[in-house]
Amino acid sequence: MRLENKVAIITGGANGIGWEAVNLFLREGAKVAIADFKAEGMEARLAGLDTYRDRVAFFQVDVANRESVNQMVAGVADRFGGIDILVNNAGITRDAMLSKMKPEDFQAVIDVNLTGVFHCTQAAVPYLIESGQGRIINTSSAAGLNGNIGQTNYSAAKAGLIGMTKTWAKELGRKGITVNALAPGFIETSMIESVPEQLLAQVKNIVSLQRLGKPEDIANAYLFLASNEAKYINGTVIEVDGGIMM
Ligand SMILES: NC(=O)c1ccc[n+]([C@@H]2O[C@H](COP(=O)([O-])OP(=O)(O)OC[C@H]3O[C@@H](n4cnc5c(N)ncnc54)[C@H](O)[C@@H]3O)[C@@H](O)[C@H]2O)c1
Repeated sequence: MRLENKVAIITGGANGIGWEAVNLFLREGAKVAIADFKAEGMEARLAGLDTYRDRVAFFQVDVANRESVNQMVAGVADRFGGIDILVNNAGITRDAMLSKMKPEDFQAVIDVNLTGVFHCTQAAVPYLIESGQGRIINTSSAAGLNGNIGQTNYSAAKAGLIGMTKTWAKELGRKGITVNALAPGFIETSMIESVPEQLLAQVKNIVSLQRLGKPEDIANAYLFLASNEAKYINGTVIEVDGGIMM
């Protein structure tokens, strides 16, 4: 097992990519904190993870709220005796063309997708230093690398994450922590439910593998970056998008 005895926080772990990662990390031996805003339906989901009951716990958190994040991180360290891996996966969209984007929707996406990652990372770093082999994995996006129509706010946040990733890799490498980002393409989760079918068909066409990604495609990349095999990878952005030919 590749994550035996490691303690991982997965923000946004209640759904989509995060939920897939929770399951994969548990199978690989990690102790997993599901850190999510959404508590609804969590009891039933946790019941499905009963085999791992000593190694999994749900922490309700709003990553955009600093106090809430500090409480969550302290709670995880207390419950599992430290923190080795932080997967900054929580994210939202509030799409609109530039001319129609409301300032509050711009701000909401920055607050969760960018500032939320700052809060979580700052709170977790002391524990990651203590771990001696800390890992931070940020979830950027193809939209952060290339921009995307209707996603001024989201692209700005996801591009900002790449800057933070590289900065933290420089600051924290000497403390034994690696910091990397993933840039997923279009992944089949509730996040893309509102994207019109016709647009998704066009996307499939520009993906060289001719399909959308699945949550497991991203969860597997999280696992790789969290594992010992990735110990010399630092400050990089891995594109997991099936080969989007823009
Ligand atoms: N699905 C895609 O096509 C795609 C592409 C590129 C990047 N991503 C990124 O992958 C990550 C996971 O997305 P997903 O597709 O699984 O989406 P999702 O909507 O299925 O899951 C996101 C999770 O984040 C949680 N969350 C939202 N706001 C939160 C907050 N303030 N505090 C704590 N938790 C919060 C939600 O409750 C949800 O469980 C996001 O960062 C997203 O931007 C997704």
